[in-house]
Amino acid sequence: MSNLLQERVLSVHHWNDSLFSFRTTRDPGLRFENGQFVMIGLEVDGRPLTRAYSIASPNYEEHLEFFSIKVPNGPLTSRLQHLREGDAIVVSKKPTGTLVLHDLNPGKNLYLLSTGTGLAPFMSVIQDPETYERFEKVVLIHGVRYVSELAYADFITKTLPENEFFGEEVKEKLIYYPTVTREPFRNTGRLTELLDSGKLTDEIGLPRLNPETDRAMICGSPAMLKDCCDLLDSRGFKVSKRIGEPGDYVIERAFVEK
Ligand code: A2P
Repeated sequence: MSNLLQERVLSVHHWNDSLFSFRTTRDPGLRFENGQFVMIGLEVDGRPLTRAYSIASPNYEEHLEFFSIKVPNGPLTSRLQHLREGDAIVVSKKPTGTLVLHDLNPGKNLYLLSTGTGLAPFMSVIQDPETYERFEKVVLIHGVRYVSELAYADFITKTLPENEFFGEEVKEKLIYYPTVTREPFRNTGRLTELLDSGKLTDEIGLPRLNPETDRAMICGSPAMLKDCCDLLDSRGFKVSKRIGEPGDYVIERAFVEK
């Protein structure tokens, strides 16, 4: 396949029964912007079976990382979840996507709104030093049903602040706000409701959402996306309508059926 690169699985991490992450080799020629996605997949019966996956690793790493749900009867993820170190995987040569810093107007606070595996592109964005150059505060919100789905929580709260190059910026600017909807946790409720009521911004000590100062990136299910867009639109935020045309916020679908 001329548009696909053959890569190898370097490691696999299962977060719980329904979520896992894996790392692959990266062709040195593969260039991407943090926040973008690629098509990845497996050869099944001699044909590539691929789906869009956000790249969860930053673009300066030698490997690629992906964060995936396990859909029991999903054509691809029912197979991907059995990946092991050394297995072959195909990766498309042309990353693309809308969740990129350069499509946001200048602003003060960046809100990264995610549910489920919609966290993936933001794992790349929060590891980009430019994110901290462009914004005073970076608020990463991750909404999940159960606590066990709060993947990457330790990396975000423990590893990233110790980064040798931009750990100090992370400590000063990154605010991680996980919220759980179906069991007790320190933060509960849907992120849309927490933002709409002002509870979330009050708790983290920032003013209510304001299009003059705030920018957002959104990644989640179609329903989550719509509710977040409605919330921002009603407050006067302008969406970026296409790649290369900056707005107050950018959106990406979370490629849920896999
Ligand atoms: P809830 O438990 O109230 O449905 P899912 O796995 O269905 O994508 O959900 C992941 C997380 O996103 C859950 O916490 C879920 O809350 C929440 N969620 C689902 N739909 C929306 C929506 N339209 N707006 C905001 N959050 C949502």
